[in-house]
Amino acid sequence: FTVEIDAMDIEKGTYPHFMLKEIDEQPFVMRKIIQEYQDTNDEIKLDENVRQAMMQTDRVYIIAAGTSYHAGLVGKQFLENIANVPVEVHIASEFSYNMPLLSEKPLFVFISQSGETADSRSVLVKIKELGHPSLTLTNVPGSTLSREADYTLHLHAGPEIAVASTKAYTAQIAVLAILAVDTAKTKGLTIEFNPLQELAIAANAMEALTDQKEVIEEITKEFFIETRNAFYIGRGVDYFVVQEASLKLKEISYIQAEGFAGGELKHGTIALIEEGTPVIALATQESVNYSIRGNVQEVAARGAKTCVISLKGLEQEGDTMVLPHVHELLTPLVSVVPMQLLAYYAALHRDCDVDKPRNLAKSVTVE
Ligand code: G6P
Repeated sequence: FTVEIDAMDIEKGTYPHFMLKEIDEQPFVMRKIIQEYQDTNDEIKLDENVRQAMMQTDRVYIIAAGTSYHAGLVGKQFLENIANVPVEVHIASEFSYNMPLLSEKPLFVFISQSGETADSRSVLVKIKELGHPSLTLTNVPGSTLSREADYTLHLHAGPEIAVASTKAYTAQIAVLAILAVDTAKTKGLTIEFNPLQELAIAANAMEALTDQKEVIEEITKEFFIETRNAFYIGRGVDYFVVQEASLKLKEISYIQAEGFAGGELKHGTIALIEEGTPVIALATQESVNYSIRGNVQEVAARGAKTCVISLKGLEQEGDTMVLPHVHELLTPLVSVVPMQLLAYYAALHRDCDVDKPRNLAKSVTVE
């Protein structure tokens, strides 16, 4: 198996860091995915074996670590809401201790940028012994998880060099959306959502955001230069994205950050809010817009310094940033971009090693 790599992919070019280059590449990755997963009739092109595996399963078990786990949380929503397939998402390293009771026809879906994560591989080895089918979503088709699983879907993100994952996350979400719609269509469900068209719109929206770096750098200076900690809040799918946002910030800027479910604040974590604590809220979902705004008021009343990032159409006066409108299901693709850039500039202005943060490895090949 050979992987062709363009020299440009593994060089920074004019970029100061790989992470910034990889954030900027995301719109192109979306377009590449559309190209790779589209047939000549503008329909979804997918490996027939994967299609059949999705038809035959009664429950998908997503196994992943780190950022890929966060993409899995978003993917669960797609598969359940669009394709009516029940899904569980598991952290690979925990799976064997808390192994769930499996359904009759489980399908294991491994999400891994590198395809080498040992925690995920050990689950794959175990479920293969049990005789269950497996699918890997990876950016490296010749990788261990890809070779050892029954089927592979390629992420087409190009080499990701920075330790903190960015373009692989959005690629994973895009491929999971395509997989969900394809499954729904194969099942004969009526689907009004055209993922390839909607991904093209999302790609343009991502580009509009990567063109606004100065705005995000200014927000970073206001919120993250002095602070020791920071909180992100969201509800519904925004809760999944804020978990990824906080992981990005802690990985590269070493600021202690957490992503909380807005509704859980009152059950404990609001005790952490002090005068000046930065709280970044995401508001991209109409159904929770009112409630998350209530959470922002609650933390502001206790002294938090708040920043609201909302979706066009849901914005309110005083919001720090308004994201271009995209289909409600695909908002993570755009809302994560300013989050990645916030983390990037925080690390940059705190003189951290952006591409090679302390204590972390790009792929962890030990359990
Ligand atoms: C490491 C990396 C993370 C990554 C995780 C899972 O911890 O530092 O950025 O999300 O592994 O990696 P994978 O290659 O399986 O997606």
